Amino acid sequence: MPNFEQPIDRLGSNSIKWDTILKTYNEKELLPLWIADMDFKAPAGVLNAYQKLLDHGILGYTDTPESLYTAIINWEKEQHQLAIEKEEILFFSGVLAGITTAIQAFTKPNDTILIHDPVYPPFANIITTNRRQLVRSRLIDEDGRFVMDFADMEEKFKHQHVKVMILCNPHNPGGRVWSKEELQKLGNLCKKYDVLVLSDEIHQDLVFPPYEMTSFFKAGEDFSDFSVQFTSMTKTFNLAGIKNSVVFVKSAKLRKQLTRKQEENFQQEINTFGLVGMEAAYETGKEWLNELLPYIQSNIAYTMKFFQEHLPNVHIMSPEGTYLLWLDFSKYELSDAELEERLIHKGKVVLNTGVSYGPSGKQHMRLNVACPRATLEEGLHRIAMALK
Ligand SMILES: Cc1ncc(COP(=O)(O)O)c(C=O)c1O
Repeated sequence: MPNFEQPIDRLGSNSIKWDTILKTYNEKELLPLWIADMDFKAPAGVLNAYQKLLDHGILGYTDTPESLYTAIINWEKEQHQLAIEKEEILFFSGVLAGITTAIQAFTKPNDTILIHDPVYPPFANIITTNRRQLVRSRLIDEDGRFVMDFADMEEKFKHQHVKVMILCNPHNPGGRVWSKEELQKLGNLCKKYDVLVLSDEIHQDLVFPPYEMTSFFKAGEDFSDFSVQFTSMTKTFNLAGIKNSVVFVKSAKLRKQLTRKQEENFQQEINTFGLVGMEAAYETGKEWLNELLPYIQSNIAYTMKFFQEHLPNVHIMSPEGTYLLWLDFSKYELSDAELEERLIHKGKVVLNTGVSYGPSGKQHMRLNVACPRATLEEGLHRIAMALK
């Protein structure tokens, strides 16, 4: 039985979340509730598989075993009712590595790529560092949940000659699990304007009932002809450090293009720890995940209640998936710099700054609640203190 309540000291483990913030902010004793990894131990099945590898003691070149393909295919079938064939699977050292290669494979410099605003910040970075044009379509906050502005997207597809869209499904930072109907509408627009969809589904397993994950592939019969799906077990099972991901490409034409670029960059070999961890997680992690989801949900409920009672001026989106909360501090009328200054130096708590997710993230912050309740409680009190 996993014990999510037990705080684990991560200081001194070269954790980006815990060990880099002193240098970044020049402030001691900060509590990190930022970057998307969890303060929980990985599932026992994964740790046991690593122990077996270490006991054997040889870490030579490792082939991708047939059993890994089977584990992935079974997971997608059982958890997501998604039929994937072995030859449709490619491996990359992370979702971002896969998306970056896809951008290089499917677009040319100066081509236009659309993303939402707000959305996971590295999307914008990889578009611009690859010298592609970045276009954003703002999400609309409709009764406390994000919805897509289809008219705005159509306008941009049509007049700005968008070649590719990067979709975040479920959405980070808003926690939306896009519905089948929304994805259908989006897919039909993309088809009409010949836009290829790179669907980042790394948060696919972190979805709370009654919401249901719909893979972009499944939203329309022929959607896999013009889309590529990126996912990983690293977010689900807190294995971000093993840098691994899977890409599903059903279209033979797209697969050929992506594989060619992957080989040009010599990115096709996956490290041993990635292969071992990935297989063990898919094969043995289900129970752990079944315990994790209610724990995350209870942390979300606790946080919502805390804000209602102590900080009613902060508007929070109630997430349908992910362990990330999007907080709107605009009622405080603080600039982004003032808000960050208060949280860091007065509250001593680190959240992700909203503006990094796009212009609409002004006066917002993203909060990660995947930590033991005691850590979360302390963090929330620090936020309240910062705003006093
Ligand atoms: C939407 C999204 N995509 C990709 C990543 C990063 O994936 P990777 O570490 O596999 O590149 C994250 C991490 O938080 C994420 O939230």
